[in-house]
Amino acid sequence: MSSFPRNSIIKWLVAVIFAGCFFLRTLPSQTSSRNDFHFAIIGDRTGDAQPQIFGRVWREVDLMHPDFVLNVGDTIQGGGDAAAEKQWAELRPLWKRYSHYPLYFTAGNHDIFSKASEELYVKETGRQPFYSFDYQDAHFTILDNSRVRDMSEEQLAFLEKDLKANRNKNPKIVVFHKDYWIGLLRGGNNDFPLHKIVRDNGVKHVISGHGHNFVRIVRDGVAYMEVGSSGGGMKGKFLRGAGFKEGCFYHHVWARVQGGEVKFTVKELDGQFGKGRMFAAEDWDEKGPHFDISDPSIDGKPQT
Ligand SMILES: [Fe+2]
Repeated sequence: MSSFPRNSIIKWLVAVIFAGCFFLRTLPSQTSSRNDFHFAIIGDRTGDAQPQIFGRVWREVDLMHPDFVLNVGDTIQGGGDAAAEKQWAELRPLWKRYSHYPLYFTAGNHDIFSKASEELYVKETGRQPFYSFDYQDAHFTILDNSRVRDMSEEQLAFLEKDLKANRNKNPKIVVFHKDYWIGLLRGGNNDFPLHKIVRDNGVKHVISGHGHNFVRIVRDGVAYMEVGSSGGGMKGKFLRGAGFKEGCFYHHVWARVQGGEVKFTVKELDGQFGKGRMFAAEDWDEKGPHFDISDPSIDGKPQT
C-alpha cells in the first residue's frame, strides 16, 4: 500500500489552518457583548426654536438618569458667525446644569456653516465635527454632513475605516444630522454608498435628525431612525395638516442597551406641548404608527 508523502500532508494542513484563520477574520463579530446601560437621544432644538420645549426635554431626560446623552444636531439657530457666538454663549448655563452627563454632539447645518462656525462648534461643544467613541462594548460613529446634501466621500471613508477597526464592538450605531436616507429608501434605493457600508459592517442602527419629524425605516437589518423635534419648529407642518401620525410631535428617545440589543422608547412631551404618549420605536414603520394613537397603551393594557 503506497503511503501519502508526509510533506504533502503538512502542506495540506498548513493550507487548511491558514484558510480557516482567514475565514474567521472575514466573519462579522460574534463576540457576546456585556452591555448594560441607557442613553437619551435629543432631537433638533432649531430652526425656529420653540421656547421652553428644549428645557422640558432636558428636565425629563435628567429625571430618567441616562448614562450619557446624544444629540442629532441643530443645537443653535446660526445664521452668521457673530450670531452663533452669542447663541452658544446663551446655552452654556444649560450645559453646566446637566454637566453630570457626558454629552455627545452631532453637527447640524445650523451649527456648522462656515470655517469660523466649525471652530466655534469645537470650542463650545468640546467635540470634533466627526468622531467615534465606545461605551462598554458598544461603538458609536458620529459623522458630519452639516454642509453637504448627503454624505461626502471623506466621511464615507472615515466610516468604513472606523467600522473595520471596531469590528468586534457590538452594537454599532451611526449618527449624523441630515436624514438624506429617507428619500432614497422610500424610492426603493437600497444600494447607496452609506447603506452598503453600514449593511456590510454589522451596523444595526442609523440615527439622524434635521426633518423635525419622527421617521423609522428598516432595510436589510439596519434600522434607520430620524429623531424629530425636541424644540425645533413644526408650525409649517401643523398648518399643512401633519400631526402625530406623520411624526410631528415634540419628543426625545430613550435607549436601553443590553448585550448586543438596543430598545428605543419614544417619549412625547406631556401637557400643553403634547399628550405624553410613549411607544416602542419598533411599533412605527414607514407607514407610521402601528397602534391607536389616541392611547398607545390600549394594546398593552394589563388585564387586572
Ligand atoms: Fe438641520
